[in-house]
Amino acid sequence: MVTVRVPAKVNVQLGVGGVRPDGYHDLANVFFAVALGDQVTATSGPGVTLSCDGPDAAAVPLDDSNLAARAARLLAAHHGLADPGVHLHIDKAIPVAGGMAGGSADGAAALLACDALWGLDTPLPTLLELAAELGSDVPFALLGGVALGRGRGELLEPLPVSGTFHWVFAVADGGLSTPAVFRECDRLREESGLGSSLADVPTPDADPALLAALAEGDPVALAAALGNDLQAAAVSLRPALADTLHAGTEAGALAALVSGSGPTCAFLAKDADAAAHLATALRTSGTCRTAHATHGPVPGAQVVKTSA
Ligand code: C5P
Repeated sequence: MVTVRVPAKVNVQLGVGGVRPDGYHDLANVFFAVALGDQVTATSGPGVTLSCDGPDAAAVPLDDSNLAARAARLLAAHHGLADPGVHLHIDKAIPVAGGMAGGSADGAAALLACDALWGLDTPLPTLLELAAELGSDVPFALLGGVALGRGRGELLEPLPVSGTFHWVFAVADGGLSTPAVFRECDRLREESGLGSSLADVPTPDADPALLAALAEGDPVALAAALGNDLQAAAVSLRPALADTLHAGTEAGALAALVSGSGPTCAFLAKDADAAAHLATALRTSGTCRTAHATHGPVPGAQVVKTSA
């Protein structure tokens, strides 16, 4: 039996370029791993089967559409294992379809858990390549910490960071579809007359002020530099998110932004006490289902328990 712990992410910068011929968008994506995370436990068994526990478990698909199942099959195929046998149990704390890469996290955790269970010892660069085949956000869940993601987000460069930042995540009822949010971002750009093609949109780049704030461990400077090009699209599809963002700002957050493609909203706090206070205020604000105080950065997917 192998248990892997894996973090959720928030994008402290999500710069979105024009639509590429393959339908993806070039990104300048600064990923930040937070302590809110899932655990995936792999045990030997016939075929590839899944189970899930947690408040959102009913929303987690238990068939081959789940990235954890796809990860197990992909790793087995890469090593020529004809008959992979694993049961993957997901302890789910990351909001489902919430913009925090929860499905991607489970895919990354399953890669690592199956690798250990089957004694494969796959080198990290190979695991990162397999992760990129599974989805744009999966490689970062293996890496953790803070990293700049280019291309569609899968080409990662770890970034220097000091200290610990304190966050609150406000979880909405129901998820948002990532492709739908990217499409809405393109539609809003077309509607505004700017256009959405590669020729129309400047290639995004990491903001030097944001990188300096991370390196210096300065939450006030980070708050001033946070940015998400998908935010307007997420709020356009889910106008109530504006109320959630406003409630957090009113309750003293240093900054508020939509996490990735949403609908989870992320709030930066000045310290752990401020985060706990903010989470309580958001939970009672009536603008979200629940709110979690957490911190980061934390490492990527890690084996935390093995037994025979
Ligand atoms: O890579 P992943 O399967 O997670 O992406 C899900 C969807 O999000 C893609 O099919 C695409 O519609 C959108 N996407 C995008 N540009 C990116 C990453 C994702 O348009 N860089």
